[in-house]
Amino acid sequence: MRIFENLEAFLQKLSVEAKQMDLKSEIIPEKLPKHIAIIMDGNGRWAKQHGKPRVFGHRNGVKAVRETTEAAAELGVSYLTLYAFSTENWSRPKVEVGALMRLLVETLHKEINTLNKNNIRLQAIGDISLLPEATHRALLKGIENTKDNTRMTLVLALNYSGKWDIAQATRKLADQVKEGVISPADINEDLLAQSLSTHAIPDPELLIRTSGERRISNFLLWQLAYSELYFSPVFWPDFRKEQFYQAIIDFQRRERRFGKISEQLV
Ligand code: IPE
Ligand code: IPE
Ligand code: MG
Repeated sequence: MRIFENLEAFLQKLSVEAKQMDLKSEIIPEKLPKHIAIIMDGNGRWAKQHGKPRVFGHRNGVKAVRETTEAAAELGVSYLTLYAFSTENWSRPKVEVGALMRLLVETLHKEINTLNKNNIRLQAIGDISLLPEATHRALLKGIENTKDNTRMTLVLALNYSGKWDIAQATRKLADQVKEGVISPADINEDLLAQSLSTHAIPDPELLIRTSGERRISNFLLWQLAYSELYFSPVFWPDFRKEQFYQAIIDFQRRERRFGKISEQLV
């Protein structure tokens, strides 16, 4: 019986891979988003569905992170930003926050080699100085060890919120006014964008949120001004290359008008 079970699993794997290849070939390389941002949601509900504690969902979400990062790098996406912990997430039960912070340390330690092998640079946005010491340290080490990689930048949003980002940018500009470096009249959209935590990163063309929720949850508020939004019903731990490709294909079929009319776009 064992041999049949193995055979069935093998055939199943082949069929998933064939579907993936088909989808991948539908993606138009010239129309690939440079920056994709993802709200990784649904870990808790996935765990509940499996009759397990919420942390089990977070642990299983790591596989989805790995697959998505690999898929994005293979396609040639330049920036992938993952919302890993919001400012609001501190309000969760203490045990869950603690487990998430430890999981981050463990994952960073495990994955840095793979990032280096794949020439992927790690960066972070958010007020990371407020993370627990071990998490902060692991993150800074990961950023330092991968800083020369050039194929893709993986940005982790940690203790991040869009309102925090705009507030800290405003504070920076106010300081510059106070020091006489700029005058209030110099403040415009470009200058504000340059003070955001994403100043060196282009705005995401595509935002994906998993788990069927349809909200931004205080993610990149300024930067998402003209992003295409894609909502996947799949819980994050089940998110695979197939769903990632589907989101990109959907994105490529849309008409981005930026306030113009269709006829002006050609
Ligand atoms: C996303 O999954 C992970 C984080 C916010 C860290 P959730 O933990 O929000 O899962 P649900 O939404 O409760 O199912
Ligand atoms: C958003 O998910 C934050 C992250 C994915 C890190 P949440 O699960 O915290 O969002 P809400 O509170 O349901 O909107
Ligand atoms: Mg959630």
